[in-house]
Amino acid sequence: DMTPDETAFQDRIDRNEKIEPKEWMPDGYRKTLIRQIGQHAHSEIVGQLPEGNWITRAPTLERKAILLAKVQDEAGHGLYLYCAAETLGVSRDELLEALHSGKMKYSSIFNYPTLTWADMGAVGWLVDGAAIMNQVPLQRTSYGPYARAMVRICKEESFHQRQGYDIMMRMCAGTPEQKAMAQDALNRFWYPALMMFGPSDKDSVHSAQSMAWKIKMNTNDELRQKFVDQTVPQAEYLGLTVPDPDLAWNEDKGGHDFSEPDWSEFFAVIAGNGPCNAERLGARVKAWEDGAWFRDGLMAHAAKAGERARA
Ligand code: 3HC
Repeated sequence: DMTPDETAFQDRIDRNEKIEPKEWMPDGYRKTLIRQIGQHAHSEIVGQLPEGNWITRAPTLERKAILLAKVQDEAGHGLYLYCAAETLGVSRDELLEALHSGKMKYSSIFNYPTLTWADMGAVGWLVDGAAIMNQVPLQRTSYGPYARAMVRICKEESFHQRQGYDIMMRMCAGTPEQKAMAQDALNRFWYPALMMFGPSDKDSVHSAQSMAWKIKMNTNDELRQKFVDQTVPQAEYLGLTVPDPDLAWNEDKGGHDFSEPDWSEFFAVIAGNGPCNAERLGARVKAWEDGAWFRDGLMAHAAKAGERARA
């Protein structure tokens, strides 16, 4: 029961054509993209906070410069993604208002605290590793501006993942106390990283339609499985133990069996009740309010320049 327009649109998707901003698209496609790209942008912006926490306390000047560059990259990713969302007819102010009022989500992972320097390693290794696993296929997503934004973002994310793994290698080759810090960071970030891929497929509301539209290229469980299979040998190389007693290679499926995260914790976090939700959102709202004088000044300047141009 598709309309002729919808059938023609689906044919274009099935032929792997890119959909561009001014072209016809179903309302649901537009809404889903605004939601996903907007949440992705918010994740990049809020994602600066847990690492920003360690910039002033990085152990060396070199580590500080690397971390600063990474956090700045995230700001850039957020801005590209807001621009991509704007091509769908939503304004950046509307998106930010929806973030600040709690109507729109951002990735669950950023509601966990970063307690030690080893967490900078674990975040880069696992969180950026999970982000890449999800975003590399999105380079082929059907909406042109989103697909193109992903190309540069993925290159930068792979630098982020490498810098995190490098911190972990250094910590694991250090004193027993440093290695223990690395293990503790893995223990705390493992399940939250698995949650980044979203609920299990049976509970994923949007997957079927988003996959038909090629807004998503893989299901949540497919990507989570690939992430586990990629990450387990990396943990072994570090001499660290993945905190899952049921983790085991399954020859038949050619992948690991592993324990699911605690989904009640996941749903609590995305409902706003994780360990740092209030702190993270509070920091973003404060930054917005503290910037009001600057936005007002820009608008006043633009109004004066407009008057001069008309005179
Ligand atoms: N955190 C917060 N909310 C989540 C979530 C997560 N990890 N996983 C799922 N959800 C939400 C969904 O948004 C949806 O809620 P909504 O209807 O209110 O929007 C609900 O849970 C049901 O989940 P679905 O599986 O049906 O949702 P999706 O089809 O949207 O799939 C997704 C979720 C896989 C995260 C998908 O949106 C996606 O691929 N997004 C693009 C990638 C992205 O946003 N990445 C952010 C990661 S962090 C990052 O990139 C920063 C980097 O610098 C580390």
